[in-house]
Parts: sequence; structure tokens; C-alpha cells
Amino acid sequence: MSAPRRANIAAPLLKWYDRHHRSLPWRSPPGAAPMEPYRVWLSEIMLQQTTVPAVIPYFGKFLARWPSVHDLAAAPVEDVMEAWAGLGYYARARNLHKCARAVSEKLGGIFPDTVEGLLELPGIGAYTAAAIAAIAFDKPAAVMDGNIERVLARVFAVETPLPQAKPALRALAENVTPRKCPGDFAQGMMDLGATVCTPKNPDCPRCPLQTLCAAQERGIAADLPRKVAKAARPVRHTIAFLLQREDGAVLLRRRPPQGLLGGMLEVPSAPWRDTPWHNGEAVAHAPLPLDWQPVDGAAEHVFTHFALKITALHGRVATRIAAKIDGQWQQPRDAALPTVMKKMLGLLPEGGSVRSRKNPRRGQARS
Ligand code: ADE
Ligand code: SF4
Repeated sequence: MSAPRRANIAAPLLKWYDRHHRSLPWRSPPGAAPMEPYRVWLSEIMLQQTTVPAVIPYFGKFLARWPSVHDLAAAPVEDVMEAWAGLGYYARARNLHKCARAVSEKLGGIFPDTVEGLLELPGIGAYTAAAIAAIAFDKPAAVMDGNIERVLARVFAVETPLPQAKPALRALAENVTPRKCPGDFAQGMMDLGATVCTPKNPDCPRCPLQTLCAAQERGIAADLPRKVAKAARPVRHTIAFLLQREDGAVLLRRRPPQGLLGGMLEVPSAPWRDTPWHNGEAVAHAPLPLDWQPVDGAAEHVFTHFALKITALHGRVATRIAAKIDGQWQQPRDAALPTVMKKMLGLLPEGGSVRSRKNPRRGQARS
């Protein structure tokens, strides 16, 4: 690998970023003073596993409701979880709140300005610590995300497949990160990966690194980074119980705090298992015995480690009986729910339905 000769990508990249950066609500313009660390932190937590377009409205909503880290720390965790509903990976919301508490109560509202200090906070791993240090504090931390990995693998023609290539790519990132404007550099690499050096069709003629890029020179840009073939994602099955009161409200329950979708509201459903259910056996898991009616249609939701295939049974209860059932009743369109739960409610027969937004996460929907 000809790393030393090709290490000078910062200058052309920063010049490109000046003109072609994306204007995003958590960014200050290239070269300007950084945004306050609270905003940088909030955006980076939201951007873990989630696309920029999906994050923008949530970022605005959170800042309007909780303008400072003290405001967020003072909020009940349930409010934070509810405001997060739809963004996925709900452990992030719980850790976001824990982190806000730690910064507000133990650090007087001041975020640490070093990678080491940031790493001690809940929800902040290597990627996020480096991103905050670089973007909010101008520290020359090497930031690695999927976009940056791809750009580096191509510029330096790293043929080792991911994930084995990660240490080599990290070493390259450390090598190319400049002392001046490291935050703009990291965000410029992200933008280049998102808009020019894209996974399938890199637009090399428009790229500021074209003359330095080894993959481009060898005609293998679109083949990099190589990846070890992934095992197929297993499929699980469930039947959701869509129970409606006379006024149309549906029965929801709070999931246990730990595990998948921890602490979020759910639609009651039969255990998620490897084999399909028959309606007759699934009703043993219903919130109450009832004349459950099959509904038309099916839904699917793809999590990181499995896909869930969903069908549903529908039931109605009188309001006086509804009052005795554990859980809470909400109008389907008002409920702040994870996407998978919205998809379940999307199976409600005519009259009670909510539309599920197409899932906002990168690649597949995950939670
Ligand atoms: N993805 C993660 N962090 C980002 C940032 N600061 N700008 C754009 N995309 C990002
Ligand atoms: Fe990516 Fe092409 Fe630019 Fe190389 S020249 S970094 S492959 S867009």
C-alpha cells in the first residue's frame, strides 16, 4: 500500500467541503466556530444507525423541547423515550437520558473535551467520542463511520474485506486526519461518502480525491470495500392482538426495560418464534379470551438480527371490560410507537388504521 505518498487528502477534501458541504441543523459552516457540544452530542447519538433525513425532524423536536443538557436531564425518561419513538435502537434513548444526567449533575453541564473523557459517558463509544471531540472541540481525533471507511478503503485500495480491514482503515484515518479543522475534515469525509463516493456508483469525475485515489486508478472503486458474506437473517413469526375499545382506542403495553425495544410501548402479540403460528394456538397468548377475528394482510419488519413476519387478530371489547385489562388504551393514530408496532396497527381493519411511515433507518428497518 502506498500510504505515505497518498496521505495528503485533507487539503483537497477541506477545499471541497467549503463548497459542497451539506447544510445541516447541527452544523456550523466550514471554518466557523463549532456548535455547542450539547447539539453535536445530540446529533451524533441520533445519527448512530440512522440516516440524516430521518434525524433532522427529531433533532429539531428535541432541541425545541429540551434546549439545554440540563433540560433534557430534568425530563422524565418516559418523555424522552416517547419523543424518540420511530428512530429505532431504543437503548440509545435511555443512554441519551443517562448521559444528560451525568453531564448535568456531575459535570455541571460541561461535556468533556477529550476522547477519553467522552468515552466514560453512557452511550458514547469510540465513533461518537471521536466525532464529538473533532466536531465540537477541534481535536484531531480519527473518526470512523461507514462512509469514511468506504472512502478510505477506496483511496488506499484496501482489499482486505470488512470487518477484518477495520484496524488498517483506522490506522489510515489516523494518518490522514489533519490538526487543522479535524471536525470539518470528518464531516467532509462523511459528506463525500454520502454524496459522491457512494456505495454502488461512485462519481469519481466529481471527486476531489480522484487524482489521489488508488481504487479509481485501478478501476475497482465500486468493488471496495470488500465484505465477508453475511449469514442470512433468520425469520421469526408472530400474531398481533389488535384489541379495540368502543371508541376505537387500542390496547398497548409497556415492554420490560431491558432487551429489544426496552421500555417502549407494544401491541400485545404471541411470542416471536422461528415457526409460523396458527391462529388457534396463538390465542392462548391473547390478552383475554375473545372471539378473535383474523384480519387481511401481513407485515414484515427487519431488525438487525432477524426479520419479523406479522399477521394479526382483531377483537372488540366493551369499555367497562376494557377498564379491567392491564395496559393502556390509546387512539391508534396518536400513539408514539416504534415502527414495528405501527406496522402491527397498520393491519387494523378499516376504520381504526394508522399508516406506518416507511422505516427511516439506513438500509433495512431495524426496530
Ligand atoms: N453521520 C454521523 N455524524 C454525521 C454528521 N456530523 N454529519 C453528517 N452525517 C453524519
Ligand atoms: Fe471514491 Fe471515486 Fe473519489 Fe476514489 S475517486 S474516493 S472511488 S469517488
